Amino acid sequence: MGNLGYQAQPSESGDHSEMHRVEKLLRAAYSYCASKAQLSNTSLTRDLPAASLAGPPLPISWDSEAELMTALDKCTADDVNLSHSIERCKLDAPVAFIHLHENKWFTLGIFVIFKGGRIPLHDHPNMSGFLKVIEGKVRIRSYTTADQSGVCATVEEESHALLDSSHPPCVLGPEDKNIHEIEYAGGSENESETYQGRPYASFIDFLSPPYKSDPDPFSESCNYYARAQVESRCVLRKCPPPRSYWTEDLPYCGQSVEDIIEELRRNYPDSH
Ligand SMILES: [Fe+2]
Repeated sequence: MGNLGYQAQPSESGDHSEMHRVEKLLRAAYSYCASKAQLSNTSLTRDLPAASLAGPPLPISWDSEAELMTALDKCTADDVNLSHSIERCKLDAPVAFIHLHENKWFTLGIFVIFKGGRIPLHDHPNMSGFLKVIEGKVRIRSYTTADQSGVCATVEEESHALLDSSHPPCVLGPEDKNIHEIEYAGGSENESETYQGRPYASFIDFLSPPYKSDPDPFSESCNYYARAQVESRCVLRKCPPPRSYWTEDLPYCGQSVEDIIEELRRNYPDSH
């Protein structure tokens, strides 16, 4: 379980101590992506040791990642007013999604998985993701694969994690643990945190690049997989999404973020 967790740095910067946590999260997400874009423009990658780099000091990327992890780690269900969103459920979908923000750099949203629900095995091609549980518990099974070609991928490593809000955000990379499934593993201990008798778990999901970054209109943002056993090896085969899986969109009911986003869009013109 431990290898899925990211140890967020306790870096509360003084000037932002009064800032609402969702605002902080948005600012950190923009800043992180701006650093990433800046680093990729100068052909730097985080795999290079600092000593091998000439020119200006590097840590902009590491700092901004730690800042984003810390901002995510501090967010709670109350910060995003989750219970108000849940009250607006009309259907009995196993999973609901609350859209918070999307631009050219990232997608930020909140998943709600009701008791018995599961986000089936899927990938996020070429994307990095950070996930922070804010309500209940989820079980994540993730795979790092080798020789992924065509419709089949051989599993190199399988990881399991049982996460609740006390855990720091967990991380998936473009290659590392990119294929994963997430299932409900327990609701809040607070009896009121149910919806019409349906307990739920919830997590904030940050993905970069965003879901809609693929310019090919016929390509799906993600692929779904089924496990299979081939000669004692576990392989993952692409498949259609299971019929039992569908989502309902819920409104975001937390702090208004329109003004903040407008300001951020002005400050980061490359983000849109
Ligand atoms: Fe995912």
